[in-house]
Amino acid sequence: MKTGLTLGSLLLAIALLGMAPAASLADHHEEVTNPDLKCLKCHSRNLKKTLEDGEKMSLKIEVADFEKSVHRVIGCTGCHRDIVKGEKHPSREPIASRRAYSLKHNQTCSQCHEDHDADFEKSIHASLVRDGNDEAPLCSDCHTSHKIQPRTDFEPVNGEPCSKCHVDINEAYAQSVHGGARSEGNQIRGKFIKAPYCSDCHEAHEVLAVSSADYLVETCMSCHEVAKLAHEQWLPNAAMHMKSVGCAVCHAPEAELRVNLQLFDRIKQAPVRRSEENITLQNKLAEIDPNGNGLDPVELWKMMLNTDEGGQPSDIKLRGRLEVANGVDAHRLADHSEAIRSCESCHQANAEAFQNVTVSINRPDGRKESYKADSKVLSSPISVDSIGGFYAPGGTRIRWLDALLVLAIVGGLAVPVGHFALGKYLRRKNGNKSK
Ligand code: HEC
Ligand code: HEC
Ligand code: HEC
Ligand code: HEC
Ligand code: HEC
Ligand code: HEC
Ligand code: HEC
Ligand code: HEC
Ligand code: HEC
Repeated sequence: MKTGLTLGSLLLAIALLGMAPAASLADHHEEVTNPDLKCLKCHSRNLKKTLEDGEKMSLKIEVADFEKSVHRVIGCTGCHRDIVKGEKHPSREPIASRRAYSLKHNQTCSQCHEDHDADFEKSIHASLVRDGNDEAPLCSDCHTSHKIQPRTDFEPVNGEPCSKCHVDINEAYAQSVHGGARSEGNQIRGKFIKAPYCSDCHEAHEVLAVSSADYLVETCMSCHEVAKLAHEQWLPNAAMHMKSVGCAVCHAPEAELRVNLQLFDRIKQAPVRRSEENITLQNKLAEIDPNGNGLDPVELWKMMLNTDEGGQPSDIKLRGRLEVANGVDAHRLADHSEAIRSCESCHQANAEAFQNVTVSINRPDGRKESYKADSKVLSSPISVDSIGGFYAPGGTRIRWLDALLVLAIVGGLAVPVGHFALGKYLRRKNGNKSK
């Protein structure tokens, strides 16, 4: 008798336990399919599982979120294929860590979204994942796993998903002309014109590392066709300036600047990447600056001697470019009225823009790795050869040679033809020298 009662109340307790979540799920009967309701009977509760690294992973799924998710139609086992009907669940299989579990289960996404997966695989993020970087995003880090909305609903407005990790860049972006236009609903002078968000410039899946010198310039120009003309109005050799001066250098007026000399292979027409073939060059780069005060002209010259590797034909030179000193500033784009346009800010002896010099090589994944150099490398006759055609009259290179040109530039545009021609002449001269 006593035992019966106990058993009875136990059964009742079990029934109630089971029913409590079921009752709250009743509202979702229409939206969530029956097999999923079964899973959610347990998984809408505060279940936790202790992982091997000690973390207590929550196993609770918010029913309301899943009900609104695009994947409602495929159901829980559409992704959790290891949980098979009839087989024992919970299996009590040990899980090493949250990341390990996430890595394993993100592989299912590709089974239905092959194209997105293929794009993602080409990205810097995927390359970091392959190298074991646990900070790099997987599908579910950007999309979540259980509350994925249709694109029309998650169209990024407030920085998600990139802002989760790139916090400083997102802040800079939010205050830029583009962020501003977006927060005002893309209404520009009464018209709807879409301003770009992170993924409009960088792509969402095939996010590439910042490697080439003209990174994204084409993307900028695809929206700003008129800019080409606008620059030609006041800037001689505008096309050349666009190539050698990053957009943000003039358009993020607060930014700190640097001249980066990128190791560039003129035969492959691509920046040099670290690889087995160029170990000697890499060693030279690492060893050549023992005092740590930056590569001086002689050290740079030594480094550039015999850059040929493993018999492969190569023609390695340093490609100079004036750019913002850190990636955050690249996003602080301001209104065109604030842009730098005075020639003297660059074409002047000791112009600030030319005091900070780096030499860079690309890592195997395409990201830049920079080494400090002495600003003298820009003006020393010793390094003329290595830095090829990079030549900003007044700002760099041998002063007496510049005097005439600088006079012309600073004196205004009264003689554009004259200094245009001189510029061309010098360029050709430099070109010859660097052969
Ligand atoms: C679109 C694929 C997808 C669907 C559908 C899906 N899951 Fe998941 N689930 C994942 C992924 C991926 C993870 C791994 C964790 C991560 O990366 O966020 C996961 C993790 C989990 C976890 C571990 C805890 C956690 O939140 O990370 C539980 C429990 C879970 N899912 C239950 C469910 C249940 C119950 C359903 C149905 C209501 C469901 N899942 C539907 C993809 C899915
Ligand atoms: C009877 C309650 C119950 C039901 C029904 C249930 N689960 Fe679980 N589930 C659990 C418990 C308890 C754990 C934790 C197991 C552990 O600690 O090892 C778990 C763990 C999980 C995990 C985490 C990974 C793992 O294997 O430990 C996932 C994912 C999951 N369940 C998905 C589902 C899906 C999908 C369904 C429906 C097909 C489902 N569960 C049905 C109780 C349940
Ligand atoms: C770095 C963040 C990020 C990662 C990682 C990511 N996505 Fe996306 N995904 C986005 C963004 C942002 C969008 C919105 C579309 C856009 O801006 O192009 C999107 C859109 C989508 C869409 C909607 C279809 C479309 O193009 O409109 C699908 C499907 C998708 N992603 C699947 C995946 C899959 C599968 C993975 C993993 C292989 C993945 N995503 C990895 C950020 C990411
Ligand atoms: C069993 C197949 C399947 C799996 C596995 C799957 N999805 Fe989906 N996914 C779908 C379907 C079906 C849709 C709805 C498409 C639609 O509404 O046009 C969808 C839609 C999406 C969308 C929104 C697309 C849009 O156009 O707005 C995103 C984002 C997405 N899935 C990401 C993921 C991620 C991330 C994973 C892995 C965690 C995943 N999917 C796993 C089938 C799947
Ligand atoms: C208008 C186009 C544009 C938009 C929008 C944009 N970026 Fe960029 N981003 C660039 C350019 C151009 C560079 C390269 C600057 C350079 O040459 O150093 C860059 C560089 C980066 C870098 C590399 C930074 C480094 O340290 O070198 C990251 C990471 C990045 N962006 C992330 C983001 C994120 C996250 C967002 C959204 C909040 C975003 N970007 C929005 C154009 C854009
Ligand atoms: C889960 C974290 C995470 C999310 C979300 C994320 N990223 Fe990244 N991203 C990283 C990490 C880690 C790196 C490598 C470290 C670095 O260079 O900042 C990286 C690198 C990059 C780079 C290359 C930087 C370089 O030096 O060349 C770009 C560009 C970039 N991310 C853009 C984006 C964009 C655009 C989004 C959104 C669509 C995004 N990221 C979302 C973590 C994230
Ligand atoms: C998707 C289209 C799009 C792309 C790509 C884009 N922009 Fe913009 N940009 C806009 C819009 C829209 C505005 C706001 C227009 C306005 O205020 O007249 C704007 C404004 C600007 C302004 C201020 C112009 C002014 O008249 O004050 C600058 C400078 C600018 N963008 C530079 C860039 C740079 C640099 C890039 C590439 C790294 C870029 N944009 C990429 C759409 C784009
Ligand atoms: C040497 C400095 C400099 C560089 C480099 C530069 N700009 Fe500009 N840009 C300016 C100045 C100054 C103005 C304002 C011109 C005016 O008001 O007539 C301007 C104007 C603009 C405008 C507004 C055009 C209009 O009147 O509608 C856009 C958009 C723009 N630039 C985009 C870019 C992009 C994209 C790049 C890189 C490919 C770039 N700029 C490189 C200095 C520069
Ligand atoms: C933001 C800095 C900056 C501003 C502002 C700027 N320049 Fe330049 N300029 C450069 C750089 C850097 C080079 C060197 C490019 C190279 O050699 O690759 C250069 C090169 C030149 C050359 C040499 C061209 C050649 O073929 O060798 C002339 C001429 C010139 N600039 C004129 C001007 C004039 C005139 C103005 C003002 C209307 C101006 N620049 C504004 C940075 C600037």
